[in-house]
Amino acid sequence: MNNQPNRPLAIYVHWPWCESKCPYCDFNSHVHNNYPEDEYIKVVLKHIDYYADKLGKRTVKSIFFGGGTPSLMLPTSLNRIVKHIDNRFNINHNTEISMEANPASSTLNKFKDFKSAGVNRLSIGVQSFHDDLLQFLGRRHNSLQALSTIETAKEVFDNISTDLIYGLPKQKLSAWKEDLDRVLQFELNHLSCYQLTIEKQTAFYKAVNSGEWQPILSDTQADFFDLTRETIISQNMLNYEISNFAKPSFECKHNVHVWQYQDYIGIGAGGHGRFVSTDGQHYLSQNYKMPEKYTNNINQLNNYSHILQVITPEQELGEILLMGLRLKKGIHLDVVTNNLFFKDKFSNSIDKWQELTRMKQFGFIEITDNHIRLTSQGWSILDSITANLLNSIQY
Ligand SMILES: C[S@@+](CC[C@H](N)C(=O)[O-])C[C@H]1O[C@@H](n2cnc3c(N)ncnc32)[C@H](O)[C@@H]1O
Ligand code: SF4
Repeated sequence: MNNQPNRPLAIYVHWPWCESKCPYCDFNSHVHNNYPEDEYIKVVLKHIDYYADKLGKRTVKSIFFGGGTPSLMLPTSLNRIVKHIDNRFNINHNTEISMEANPASSTLNKFKDFKSAGVNRLSIGVQSFHDDLLQFLGRRHNSLQALSTIETAKEVFDNISTDLIYGLPKQKLSAWKEDLDRVLQFELNHLSCYQLTIEKQTAFYKAVNSGEWQPILSDTQADFFDLTRETIISQNMLNYEISNFAKPSFECKHNVHVWQYQDYIGIGAGGHGRFVSTDGQHYLSQNYKMPEKYTNNINQLNNYSHILQVITPEQELGEILLMGLRLKKGIHLDVVTNNLFFKDKFSNSIDKWQELTRMKQFGFIEITDNHIRLTSQGWSILDSITANLLNSIQY
């Protein structure tokens, strides 16, 4: 059973601080003028040691520095983390090392230093090229900075992605089309386009609840989604995940690895993971979110597994569906049929899964090339299909 070193690993490292809090954001990000960077990095290194002991010296498929705003980190700090991961696991020339960057805290020299520190893929939080919309989103940068950050990044990195947000109140379809055309002119390898979601416990949630403004209607949302797909796909990029587009072979390796239900660990405040350890047990992990609580637990209490639970085959099948159906490619049949809960519930036969068969008959799901995937018709109602399938696997 000790074959875990052969299972490739993805590593997520969370940087929990930002210069200000955007009103739509429910990520684990905290505003701090004087964050304890050195102490935090030391704890991150200890946490890497903990996982190396638990998982063995596996090959690292990807490292993702997310946040918060990891581009606030000193490049030397990032390099300490990359080097440590290389010592305790195996990094090779194929390892994708991504970092999220905010246009408000990005310079040419910083990009060069991050590249020397190990970053080989940059994901820039542009959000919009329209100043009025950037202001509405509470961003610290304007459209000129957004454009110049992409230009600067192109001087340093070959592999660049940008994040854009659409479906804002008062945003016209024509303005969104301008944003798409503008970003496509840069001919980047990757593009993430997220529809604005109103998350609980954000300033936007309060504004909507107090009637300050209303989110756009679902018909309009569908128009935005269709325009996004048509415009980007016409430029030979693949819509490989519901919100993600890439030139062939430039999909984000890290996210695809996670969506395909492979092992990943989460380091840093609020990081989470899912992995099989050397004892063969399947785990879900979640770190404490508050940076002080996270560092104190590791430093003072020697407590590395803040929330660590063994995942049951039933939970596992739910996660497989939730993650895998987002991908255009879908879920490999083996991943489903090897699941112990599936074997038990459907007597090891995919045809006995009635809800899946019904979705196939409606034309929402197809099973081809050994993969279960949504058809384009099914993709436009991804959430309700996933919910139906999840309901159908509950005893
Ligand atoms: C952790 S943030 C990116 C890094 C960096 N902190 C920044 O904002 O530039 C990840 C991305 O998720 C998207 N996002 C966050 N909250 C969102 C929301 N409520 N609705 C839609 N997209 C959202 C944004 O495009 C954002 O760039
Ligand atoms: S910069 Fe990014 S992580 Fe920070 S608050 Fe804004 S959206 Fe959230």
